[in-house]
Amino acid sequence: MTVSRSPVGFPRISARVRILLWLLVVMAVALGAVAVTVRSILQRDVDHRISKLLTQETGEFANFVPQGVDPDTGGRFETADRLLRIYLQRQYADPDEELLGLTGPAGKEPGVIRQRRDLPRDIALWKDKDSLTRIRDSQDSFGTLQRPQGELRWAKVEIGPSAGGQPGAFVVAFHPERERAVADKTFWMLLALSGIALLMTTGIGWAVAGRILAPVRLVRTTAAELTEQDLTRRIPVEGRDDIAALAETFNAMLDRLERAFAAQRVFVDDAGHELRTPITIVRGHLELMGDDPADREETVRLVTDELDRMSRIVEDLLLLAGAERPDFVRPEPVQLAELTADVFVKVRTLGEREWVLDGVADREVRLDPQRMTQAMVQLAQNAVQHTVPGQRIRIGSRADAGHVELYVADHGPGIPPEDAEVIFERFRRGTSRRGTRTSGAGLGLAIVRAIAEGHHGGVELRRTEGGGATFVLTLETDS
Ligand SMILES: Nc1ncnc2c1ncn2[C@@H]1O[C@H](COP(=O)(O)OP(=O)(O)OP(=O)(O)O)[C@@H](O)[C@H]1O
Ligand SMILES: [Mg+2]
Repeated sequence: MTVSRSPVGFPRISARVRILLWLLVVMAVALGAVAVTVRSILQRDVDHRISKLLTQETGEFANFVPQGVDPDTGGRFETADRLLRIYLQRQYADPDEELLGLTGPAGKEPGVIRQRRDLPRDIALWKDKDSLTRIRDSQDSFGTLQRPQGELRWAKVEIGPSAGGQPGAFVVAFHPERERAVADKTFWMLLALSGIALLMTTGIGWAVAGRILAPVRLVRTTAAELTEQDLTRRIPVEGRDDIAALAETFNAMLDRLERAFAAQRVFVDDAGHELRTPITIVRGHLELMGDDPADREETVRLVTDELDRMSRIVEDLLLLAGAERPDFVRPEPVQLAELTADVFVKVRTLGEREWVLDGVADREVRLDPQRMTQAMVQLAQNAVQHTVPGQRIRIGSRADAGHVELYVADHGPGIPPEDAEVIFERFRRGTSRRGTRTSGAGLGLAIVRAIAEGHHGGVELRRTEGGGATFVLTLETDS
């Protein structure tokens, strides 16, 4: 039995023991109830049988009284004594039964007429004058006597003095102890069998519960052995039950964890790499800086540029790191037309282009206007970076049932299909970069995607008609 301490200090009982204990308690109660019920049914049967027997015996005697004929005289019986004697001679009694005739007037100790029987003397009623007197004097015609020797059920038929000089009574007595004992024996047998069944259940239950719960133990030990460095351990999945499903879920969770940790490592590596480049550049410029004031001025300009770039990267990284937080996006009801117009006004300052407000959707939607503007500005910035002054860049929004789109379309070089997926990943830039190193770190589209997903939407790349790239933010709405 595994008993360890839970953090609160209570002993922790393993699931295996708990399952088994419950099983045993329920079984014990059920088996006990069955045994008790069987016993009471058997006892009731015994009582019924005895009642029937007593009724039958007294009925037979009551019939005999008016019809009986004395074999010696061929006429009616003259005395109760004779009637009882003849009747009893002809009767056959059950092993636990006594048939007796009582004679003599009430108030006196009765005379007893009995059959020759081998009943144990200590329980025989014919010897027990006390009980006989009580039965004879009783007003009832049947009853139960509790004697020290045990219980006794009796019934009697009185014969009035008219049947002969003396009054008399016919008494049937039944000793139920032996029949009761048979019922009790069945009860104890049932209990003993229940005990054996419980023992067997304990053994089998322990083994089966152990087998079923083995994967759970495996999950526990595997989880305990996992470290951030080694997430490669997996639980072998066997069978098709829900425990196997648990193992599968656990393994899937480990897959995700492993991927997340790997992605995090890549992210940190990339971030480090990306930040190292401007540092190297800054150091190089400072080391080579001469005394010439013009040279110094140029160095300061370049160094400030790099530092700006660095601080932008750090800001973007912080923003992306916060994208997992629930309050990253704070939606509120926003007029889409207003938002689109605002964005248009802001992005026009990004560069000398032919900016066009293409179309606005007249619809109220729930979104975070700041984040959405931020995403649109990123897209517009990219569009500016990949176009030359005078080229047309279109901004707009459209809506149809349950669906809203905001887009930025340019007529730049567009994006080769092989880049279509990767450009949305962090620190990934397209392969066909024009000109010299841009100031970007490849975080812009990752931020746009994070904002779109924060709104339960997405970002799509399409081709602009006539060449160029169109980025579309798509959101689902309720209305
Ligand atoms: N409008 C566009 N036209 C052509 N290529 C684009 C356009 N927008 C993005 N790209 C490509 O996608 C890549 C990723 O863009 P992203 O905005 O993520 O990074 P970046 O602009 O290089 O850097 P940052 O946005 O962090 O300053 C770009 O490097 C570029 O190759
Ligand atoms: Mg960008």
